[in-house]
Amino acid sequence: MLILAIDTSCDDTSASLVEFHEEDGRPRILSNVISSQSEIHAKYGGIVPELASRRHNELIWPVVSEAMAVNKTPLEGLSAIAVCMGPGLIGSLLVGCSFAKAVSFSKKIPLAGVNHLEGHILSVFLEGAGPGFPYVCLIVSGGHTSLYLVEGFLHYRLLGRSRDDAAGEAYDKVAKLLGLGYPGGPEIDRLARAGNPKAIPFPRAFLPGTLDFSFSGLKTAVANFLKDQPRPYGQELVRDVAASFQAAVLDVLIRKCQWAAKKTGVRNLAVAGGVASNSALKQGMRDMARKMEMQLFVPSPAFCTDNAAMIAMGGFHRLRAGELSGPGLNPQAALKL
Ligand code: KG4
Ligand code: ZN
Repeated sequence: MLILAIDTSCDDTSASLVEFHEEDGRPRILSNVISSQSEIHAKYGGIVPELASRRHNELIWPVVSEAMAVNKTPLEGLSAIAVCMGPGLIGSLLVGCSFAKAVSFSKKIPLAGVNHLEGHILSVFLEGAGPGFPYVCLIVSGGHTSLYLVEGFLHYRLLGRSRDDAAGEAYDKVAKLLGLGYPGGPEIDRLARAGNPKAIPFPRAFLPGTLDFSFSGLKTAVANFLKDQPRPYGQELVRDVAASFQAAVLDVLIRKCQWAAKKTGVRNLAVAGGVASNSALKQGMRDMARKMEMQLFVPSPAFCTDNAAMIAMGGFHRLRAGELSGPGLNPQAALKL
């Protein structure tokens, strides 16, 4: 089964061609093209929605053409087309969904609408057998910080989520306060390695008794701390703020995963989304999983950040379950899983 998948949910235009084994459902990724818009949004320190959708509109055809070129397959040769239908920026989602619907209609190819979060949850199956069910999945990205209990393909139970900012959003906002580039996560990750994580005791919102998260107080604490510092900020200060901020985020993420595992009794843990490529988070999760005698699954960085291959994974399982989308497929900015 050959699936073309598209993701235009945020600021990356991505298309991927994935071949699935009919019986065991194992994927073989033939292409995974990602065109980043970071340069366009960098000068604003965050994503400008209208610029993002206009750029998707320019890039969608070249990106799909490049993804299709690897196999020299015409569009008619596809078994199906899968597209991310939310959550995300509505103007961006509309570009990918309209394109996918046009291809599906004109070439008479089945269409599957896929939830972006489902894509992240299933990204752990792209490079190997992946975890056995059930598993707990932490999705930690620029738009989301959520914990799900994954009981099977298409069977997801929300355990907790951020009540305000997503962890990646906090990384990006703190990076902006420090005068670093966008996206801020990779920069803070790099600087934190040379900083002291105990230099500044930033607050941790553990929200006891729940598996929810909150990161806006931490962001405000960093802003308040920086207000009292002389400018321009020295290199050592920037590294210490990066390390201390990161320690506060990771303490909460790791502790909450531990609580989720205890609460559900699950032995398999997955971490997905852009922040999952953070080196200190991966190390901290590995240490915690070893202590708890749990198996940990984290995709390679290319499959942590937004990519269309993960949407193909969701599309395959939706189609296998007979969940086809019709011409009425309509993206939703706040689509629930
Ligand atoms: O999953 P993703 O590509 O897009 C969303 O669905 O949001 O995640 C992007 C987020 C950004 O906030 C970026 O700063 C963060 O992931 N990120 C990182 C790292 N790499 C990307 N955060 C911390 N450490 C990293 N190494
Ligand atoms: Zn994402």
